Amino acid sequence: MKNHKVLFVDDDQQILSIVQQFLSRCGFAVETESSGLKAIERVRNQHFSVVFSDLIMPEINGMELLRRIKEASPETEVIIVSGYGTIESAIEAMRLGSYDFLQKPINFDRFKILIERIIEKQRLKEENLRIRGRLKEHFKYDELVGMSPKMQEIYDVIDKISFGSPTVLIEGESGTGKGLTANIIHNNSDRRDGPFIPVNCGAIAESLLERELFGHIKGAFTGASKDADGLFQAADGGTIFLDEIAEVSPAVQVSLLRVLQEKRVRPVGDTREQEVDVRVIAATNKNIDEAIKNKTFREDLFYRLNVISITMPPLREIMEDIPLLVNHFISKFKGDNTGWVVTPEAMGKLMGYHWPGNIRQLENVIQRAFAMGVKEVLDVDDLPPEIAQKTTTDFSAESTFNLQAIEKKVIMQALGKTGGNKAEAAKLLGINITTVYRKIAKYGIGDTHI
Ligand SMILES: Nc1ncnc2c1ncn2[C@@H]1O[C@H](COP(=O)(O)OP(=O)(O)OP(=O)(O)O)[C@@H](O)[C@H]1O
Ligand SMILES: [Mg+2]
Repeated sequence: MKNHKVLFVDDDQQILSIVQQFLSRCGFAVETESSGLKAIERVRNQHFSVVFSDLIMPEINGMELLRRIKEASPETEVIIVSGYGTIESAIEAMRLGSYDFLQKPINFDRFKILIERIIEKQRLKEENLRIRGRLKEHFKYDELVGMSPKMQEIYDVIDKISFGSPTVLIEGESGTGKGLTANIIHNNSDRRDGPFIPVNCGAIAESLLERELFGHIKGAFTGASKDADGLFQAADGGTIFLDEIAEVSPAVQVSLLRVLQEKRVRPVGDTREQEVDVRVIAATNKNIDEAIKNKTFREDLFYRLNVISITMPPLREIMEDIPLLVNHFISKFKGDNTGWVVTPEAMGKLMGYHWPGNIRQLENVIQRAFAMGVKEVLDVDDLPPEIAQKTTTDFSAESTFNLQAIEKKVIMQALGKTGGNKAEAAKLLGINITTVYRKIAKYGIGDTHI
C-alpha cells in the first residue's frame, strides 16, 4: 500500500511552518512547498494522497496548480485554501475537480477531519482493490459481490473446489445467491468449457422429472416416438445444477443416488445404463435436516450431495455488504455507476431494513427506483414505503432481541451514514474512535463503507 502523504503549498512561510507543526503532531506525513511550479515537480516524482494549495500565489495560482496536479496524478485529491475565498472561486475549484474548499483562517478541526476522510477513503479503495485482485487471480467471481467475512468464506470454498469435481450442496434462504454461486462454481472449475445445465426440480411434474433428467427410449411411454437424451446426458463433461432438490420424489431420489454412486444413468424404459461425466451441484431453501427427519429426503442421498457444503448468508447477516451491492446493481442496470449518488439517509434506510427477500429483494428495490425514473441521486423517496418509512432504530422486525446484533447494526448504520468515516461515526454514536475500531473487529464488519 502506498503511504499517505500530504503536501501543503503556500507562498507564506509562516503558514507553512504552522501547518507543518500541526499536521506532524497529528501523525500525518507532511511536506510543504512555497512554489507552485516546484509543487508540480514533487507530485510528478512522488505520490501524495492530498495536496492543499493556496489560491493566490505569484508563479501559478491554485486553480492552475489544481489542473496540473489532476493531469499528473488523477488520484491525488486537491483542496484549494484561500483567504479571499468567495463562493464563485469555491464553485470554480470544485468544478475543476477540487475535493473541497478550505477558508483561511484555517479551522484546524475541519482541516484534520478532511485529511482523515481522504486518507480513509483511499485506504479502503486500495484495500478493496487488493482483496479483489487477490481473489481474481484465482477465480472469476465478477458477479458475486460482497466483502464481508461470510462472503469471503464462500470465495475461499469456491477457490478450493476449482479442481476435481466434488458434489456441492448449497443451502440458503430464497434470494441469497444460490443459483448465482452454482454458476460461478462451474465457471471457476476445470469444466468451465463444458455445459452448465440448471434444472428446477420443483417446477417439473414428478411424473416427468425422471425422463427429463435421464432421457428415454423409443416406446417407453405413449408418444415416445424415438430415443431422447435427458439433461444428464446434455450436461456430459460439464455441470448439472439441481435446484430445489428437496422437492424431488423418493423414486427420483433413488435414481439420483445411483448416478452419484456409479456415474451412470438409465434412460426411462431402457435396461442398459450409460456412463456420464457430470458434476452435480444441488441447492435448497428448505431445511433439509428436517426433511431427513421426516423421511421425505433420503439420508444417503444427502451425504452424497453434501460432500462440500455451502450456506449462503441471509442479507440481514451481511449488512455491511449493502453499499457494495447497491453500487453493483446501479452499474448492472445503468452500465456504469459513475455520477450516481445514494444519499446517506437512503443508505441508512437500506442498511436498517431486515430484507426477508434477501439480495434479490435489494436488486428489485434498485431496479424499481430506476423504473420510477430516479436520476443520479437515489434518496429515501425513491425507496418502497416499507423501507422508507421504517425508522432505522426500529428493531421490531428482529426475530430476537439480541443486543449484540443490534449494536452491530447501529454501528453499521453510523458507518453507512458517514460514508465509512470511523471518526465521524464515533462522534455520531457518542463513543470514542478506538471503541469503533474494537467493535468493527469484534463483529467482523468489512471495510466496504465507501
Ligand atoms: N452476492 C451477490 N452479488 C451480486 N448479486 C447477487 C448476489 N447474490 C445474489 N445476487 C443476485 O440476486 C438475485 C437472486 O440470486 P439467486 O437467484 O442466485 O438466488 P437464490 O438463492 O438462487 O434464490 P431462490 O432460492 O429464490 O432460487 C440474482 O439476480 C443474483 O444475480
Ligand atoms: Mg435460485
